Amino acid sequence: MSTPNNRIIVAIDGFSSSGKSTMARRLASKIGYRYIDSGAMYRAVTLYGLDTGLINADNLIDTEALVAALPSIVIDFAPQPDGSQHTLLNGRDVEEEIRRLRVSNAVSPVAAIPQVRHALVAMQQALGRERGIVMDGRDIGTTVFPDAELKIFVDASAQTRARRRFKEMIEKGAQVSYEDILANVVHRDHIDRTREESPLRRADDAIAIDNSEMTIEEQDEWLMERFLEATSGSKH
Ligand code: DC
Repeated sequence: MSTPNNRIIVAIDGFSSSGKSTMARRLASKIGYRYIDSGAMYRAVTLYGLDTGLINADNLIDTEALVAALPSIVIDFAPQPDGSQHTLLNGRDVEEEIRRLRVSNAVSPVAAIPQVRHALVAMQQALGRERGIVMDGRDIGTTVFPDAELKIFVDASAQTRARRRFKEMIEKGAQVSYEDILANVVHRDHIDRTREESPLRRADDAIAIDNSEMTIEEQDEWLMERFLEATSGSKH
């Protein structure tokens, strides 16, 4: 296992609902690293915009005002007794709220605003300064930590991802339809991939995995092997 002086950065990127957060969280807890869900930060900024009316009911953004508000948006992560982390927005626990469809439907255009990205990327880089971190997102291996020792790119079909998210939301008691979820997944893929600023793409040195047909246990095992290779220097 890694010691404090050889702690690395693990960057896990991929499409929405590809299971990358589950992979990242479980790896971090096994190896004793900090886990950061960078998507939660974009979601928190979006929730702030919705709550303050800077994003209206039609998801139209007052970009200038939202950018001006960035210095007053404080995002933190609070560790929970079960090892997970909750996202705090100006001190308020918003972990549950930021996962709702209201935020999911509004977040991609917010994440496409260059000034929002610059502010959040700077925060993410600060969180990784001491290394020993697993961060997941869309641009972690390309923009946030281009020097990460281990980069993973996770993919799965849109249908598989929509099915997973649908199941997750139904289990939480949400009233949603599979068709709406699939439409949201496809729409977000499109925005994430085609935005000008840091579009979602696989870093040249990232290891790709399609987990459509894998169980969580198989995924965990695969990722642990990659981590051990990266930390022992025996990459092949
Ligand atoms: O992973 P997620 O669904 O929670 O991400 C929410 C949104 O934020 C999604 O539209 C992609 C965007 N995002 C991003 O642009 N860059 C990141 N590093 C993480 C998320």
